Amino acid sequence: MEKFIIQGGVPLKGKIRVQGAKNSALPLMAGCLLTKGSSRLKNIPRLTDITAMAEVLEKLGAEVKREDAVLEINTEKLSCHEAPYDLAKRLRASILILGPMLARFGYVRVPLPGGCNIGTRPVNLHLEGLKKLGAEIETKNGYIEAHAKKGLKGNNISLNLPSVGATENLLLAASLAKGITLINNASCSPEVIDLINFLKKMGAKIERIGDKLIKVEGVKELYPVIYSIIPDRIEAGTFIIAGIITRGEVTIEGIRADHLKTPLAKLREMGVNIEVSDNEVKIKKENVWKPIKIKTLPYPGFPTDIQPQITTLACLAQGVSVIVETIFKNRFTHISELRKMGADIERKKDVVLIKGASFLQGTSIVASDIRGGTALILAGLAAKGVTEVHNIYHIDRGHERIEERLSKLGANIFRMKE
Ligand code: UD1
Repeated sequence: MEKFIIQGGVPLKGKIRVQGAKNSALPLMAGCLLTKGSSRLKNIPRLTDITAMAEVLEKLGAEVKREDAVLEINTEKLSCHEAPYDLAKRLRASILILGPMLARFGYVRVPLPGGCNIGTRPVNLHLEGLKKLGAEIETKNGYIEAHAKKGLKGNNISLNLPSVGATENLLLAASLAKGITLINNASCSPEVIDLINFLKKMGAKIERIGDKLIKVEGVKELYPVIYSIIPDRIEAGTFIIAGIITRGEVTIEGIRADHLKTPLAKLREMGVNIEVSDNEVKIKKENVWKPIKIKTLPYPGFPTDIQPQITTLACLAQGVSVIVETIFKNRFTHISELRKMGADIERKKDVVLIKGASFLQGTSIVASDIRGGTALILAGLAAKGVTEVHNIYHIDRGHERIEERLSKLGANIFRMKE
């Protein structure tokens, strides 16, 4: 086990580049299962979640090779139709092999993903949607077992909420199903759109009709591609907040500003000095910022994945902030840790009230999930004294060598063995 030691209070200065989006990389890796041959995915970060997904694909018979930020996935010799229990349990996104394996082979067996530290995370919408496409699905002994003996057939599917993962699984399945599938109330997140662009490059026929409806006309075959994934908007948001909270001057490079409209609008409401161009955000030094009201919502609303980080920023705002989490009801593991640092935070169900204070005090705190973990790094960077963040394997699931990259901005953050 490893921990981060952070000596806080240093204003960050300089330029930092965001990695490719983990949440795009994972569905695209699953998407390679739809073809026979070798695809190359570019801009893939080195993360433990990506390694776990690569191992899942390897167990299915794929060959996965990495050279720098390029992942080559060869699906010529897929031989197994079952995801290994230990790996799939570790990685929720392994559920995304359901759609492509069913579409291509008509059979798949995947461990039922459990809850996690941000709450229960059901997959009913994935399963109901696949059933609409003709799959027969049984869940027993902790596994999802799915058959489509006569192949998948297009249908009209309505999601009762715009789940990112369900939209992705259904897009993957429908691309090789017979006939037309309509996915109503689909997610329109940048990662879903990246998957659509990737599938279209492979030869899929997909059309977006407005923001919420996706039409897929199934094709007989898809072909391997070379594809570069979008920048990670969540990491971008985290680094922007790192610049602000340390009262630094930081340029965040390689972003897509159009994917960050709501978080940037909210940060501007807090009165911070941000300069935005298409691919870059510049943070100018700001000593004080206003409190904020935020409600997390499906894209294009405020992302739940930046909620813990902006909560940390609100801890140092001048006044009372209100944050409502509507996506994951238990995404609050960071709160008890921020309290240990002196933050004045109260939680009533999914509403969090934060009374801004003038400083946080470094202490020993524990990460429990990726985003909650990065929120604690931000707190440590801004705090007086030394902060120890434990269980940082959660943070490594989503950010590549985060301490090395923050160190280049002047942060005093070190990785140590426990
Ligand atoms: C993805 C992201 C995650 C992000 C989330 C919301 C990946 C790998 N992860 O997760 O970082 O926080 O989107 O933007 O891309 N739900 C159901 N039934 C289902 C599916 C979802 O009730 O079958 C509920 C969930 O419990 C949650 C909400 O829908 O309350 C949104 O979940 P969803 O959009 O599916 O998130 P993920 O795809 O799991």
